[in-house]
Amino acid sequence: MINIQFSNSGLHMSSRRLGSQSLLRLLGHWQQSASRAPLWRQLADALRLLILDGRLAQDTRLPGERELASTLAVSRTTIVSALAQLRDEGYLESRHGSGSRVTLPGSRPIPTLSTPCASLDLSTAALSAGPEIHQAYTHALAAIAPHLAHTGYNQLGLLALREAIAERYTARGLPTNPDEVMIVNGAVSGLALVLRMLTGPGDRVVVDHPTYPLAIAAIQGASCRPVGVSMPQTGWDIDGFAATLAQTAPRLAYLMPDFHNPTGRCMDSATRAAITAIAARTRTSLVVDETMVDLWYEAPPPPPLAAFATQATVITLGSAGKSFWGGLRLGWIRASTRTIAALTQTRDTLDLGSPLLEQLATLWLMQNQQTFLPARRQMLAQRRDHCAALMREHFPAWHFQPPSGGLSFWVELPEMLATQFAVRAESIGIHLGAGTRFGLSGAFDRYLRMPFSLEHIELERALISLKPLWLALNGTERPAKRSVV
Ligand SMILES: Cc1ncc(COP(=O)(O)O)c(C=O)c1O
Repeated sequence: MINIQFSNSGLHMSSRRLGSQSLLRLLGHWQQSASRAPLWRQLADALRLLILDGRLAQDTRLPGERELASTLAVSRTTIVSALAQLRDEGYLESRHGSGSRVTLPGSRPIPTLSTPCASLDLSTAALSAGPEIHQAYTHALAAIAPHLAHTGYNQLGLLALREAIAERYTARGLPTNPDEVMIVNGAVSGLALVLRMLTGPGDRVVVDHPTYPLAIAAIQGASCRPVGVSMPQTGWDIDGFAATLAQTAPRLAYLMPDFHNPTGRCMDSATRAAITAIAARTRTSLVVDETMVDLWYEAPPPPPLAAFATQATVITLGSAGKSFWGGLRLGWIRASTRTIAALTQTRDTLDLGSPLLEQLATLWLMQNQQTFLPARRQMLAQRRDHCAALMREHFPAWHFQPPSGGLSFWVELPEMLATQFAVRAESIGIHLGAGTRFGLSGAFDRYLRMPFSLEHIELERALISLKPLWLALNGTERPAKRSVV
């Protein structure tokens, strides 16, 4: 079945007025009929969640009170009270005549994927640094000495690191030379750079649906329109992908074949071959995000998608963030030498390169990864299995397939309850990744992304604390109506 999803919310444009229909879609199922909390409080909670997880960007202007009341089918008093509550808490600012604008409380840090806090964060799928990171920096400090005689500016990145990355691709079945690699400040930064070079305002960019939220943000931030191709029960919808490219003529398609975030799927070789053939036929460039590629638990993934592309243009994004540590803030782009040269020019408008110390540390980590990556995989496989056991024990109505890589489960709930559940979880200091973060226009309220990167004890504490909230929300445990991977 072909299901193309367009996004028209444009939420990530700053100072932009949000349409009431877009807000309605984002809010999803915010009203809890069984709740004793007054409606205005439920609305304030749901809006606060949208602000905290970044779906209502700072500076977004909300529709007027009358329009909101009519679209949400509640009284004007409910709207006024909810907005007043958020104003008191510092999440909204109102100016006479220009309505309410999203802001953040001065005392509160800007929400990020990794804001450190005492509460439990189940909205982020990432690991803290292992002891090898300290070792890597110690080594990098010593190794930086000969570089100090130079300016340190290098937009392509350290040659030795580009050679090491090229060797990794070659070993995975994609012959690569260092001129085809450029070091950037993380995969997301790489995506923003590629979008800046290849797209213009209004261009369409095809994404899997669901997809990685920061990819949606980057695409919308580049004034492009994400177009979603629904993911079927297993694998990828090759026909849907072909039809979407044919019907929407996108500028690019963004894919995550290696432990897709959030579903955890790995694309098989036949699908890789089919997708690249379609891209070649329709002359669509593919941007392949391989951030999770090293986090496999049973068997390594097939060769890089670009290795299947004889005709298609494939730009591959890599990251040190999951293989080593997010704090390194380092990633890379692999593309043809010509594309890399053009990206280097575009980079002039953004930054002048990546920090040398981090590049040296990443080089050391790549050279020594055999001493710690296998153990990390083993630890994560254990955490995955432990998380699966806990969810089966405490949440029998949740459906999921343990992923063979990545850092999280994509959990199907028996009803569209993710937003309400996330709102309630916030009230006890647990941040949840509601499925709506991964969809366009508020889709996936029936899903949660559950990371298994936390330590056993922390995860257990979080899930046990969530259980009474879930039971109160879902009544008795009911089996899911259908099972989706
Ligand atoms: C698919 C995907 N791409 C990119 C990133 C972020 O990568 P980086 O930290 O290198 O920008 C993540 C982090 O979770 C991710 O899951």
